[in-house]
Amino acid sequence: MRRTLLAALGAVAVLLLVVLASLAPPARGDDASLEPGSVERGEVLYRAGCQTCHGPAGGGVDPWPAIANAGEASADFQLRTGRMPHAGEPDDQAQPKPPAYDEQSIRDLVAFVGSLGDGPAIPDPVIDESLLQRGQQLFAVNCAPCHGATGNGGAVGGGAIAWPLTDASPRIVAEAMLAGPGQMPVFALPDDDLSAVATYVQYLQEAPNPGGFAIGGIGPVPEGFVAWVVGAGLLIAIAWLIGRRWSKPEGDEPA
Ligand code: HEC
Ligand code: HEC
Repeated sequence: MRRTLLAALGAVAVLLLVVLASLAPPARGDDASLEPGSVERGEVLYRAGCQTCHGPAGGGVDPWPAIANAGEASADFQLRTGRMPHAGEPDDQAQPKPPAYDEQSIRDLVAFVGSLGDGPAIPDPVIDESLLQRGQQLFAVNCAPCHGATGNGGAVGGGAIAWPLTDASPRIVAEAMLAGPGQMPVFALPDDDLSAVATYVQYLQEAPNPGGFAIGGIGPVPEGFVAWVVGAGLLIAIAWLIGRRWSKPEGDEPA
């Protein structure tokens, strides 16, 4: 009998884990740890994939731009959003695509580009609900004119697109602000303000969302489902225990 109970509880636990795992927020691809890459490995990749346009030391090969002082933030942004390597004419807007390099290679290339000069390091914004209002103000003034009040994107001068911010992770948002890719201006704001804007963009991504900020960011429907599964599991276990106690035959297996 013990065994049946354990098996039942085990099954409930496994079911719970499966449900929770499937509810993890979708990976936005860039919030892995900040473990730095290897400059040496990055140099090998750079010589093969970047040097023809950006030159041996990042000085640029006319008409392609110099990147010596772009910094790790810009390199990380360009590589993780698949913009680099660039495909197209020198004046074409770099297109976001699936990344051309794996995680380790991105870190190595970022380390090498960072070693070429003096640019912003990779930011580490935090999502902090108390910064939401500040983030909203900063966004309305600085970002909404191009990306729209809800971050759904828009066209800017020169035929460029200010992409929707629906998939941008907090770090990509902060990196874009420090790097100013393409037609976007640089917003060299303090860490707290980067976090505030990143928090607000995350909020926009989760809206419309009754009740505002979603706990854990998985939204009300899956949260309700988790509560249902946990609740149902508990009810089954309790019912089973009660039933067992009341129907326990005399002299059955010693406890
Ligand atoms: C075919 C030419 C080409 C190749 C190859 C290329 N790039 Fe670029 N790169 C460009 C162009 C053009 C831009 C400017 C894009 C824009 O204005 O949005 C750029 C921009 C950048 C920037 C942003 C510069 C800044 O001021 O913030 C970085 C960083 C960068 N490239 C890194 C790389 C790396 C790393 C590689 C190799 C994996 C690479 N690029 C390969 C053409 C190229
Ligand atoms: C003058 C218009 C303009 C303003 C203002 C502006 N952006 Fe941008 N933004 C752009 C353009 C254009 C791009 C595309 C860059 C490229 O060509 O690679 C972009 C790209 C981005 C991206 C990358 C999106 C992706 O999917 O790869 C993020 C994130 C971003 N902007 C965030 C912001 C934030 C946050 C602000 C406010 C602090 C802001 N932008 C202000 C024009 C703007």
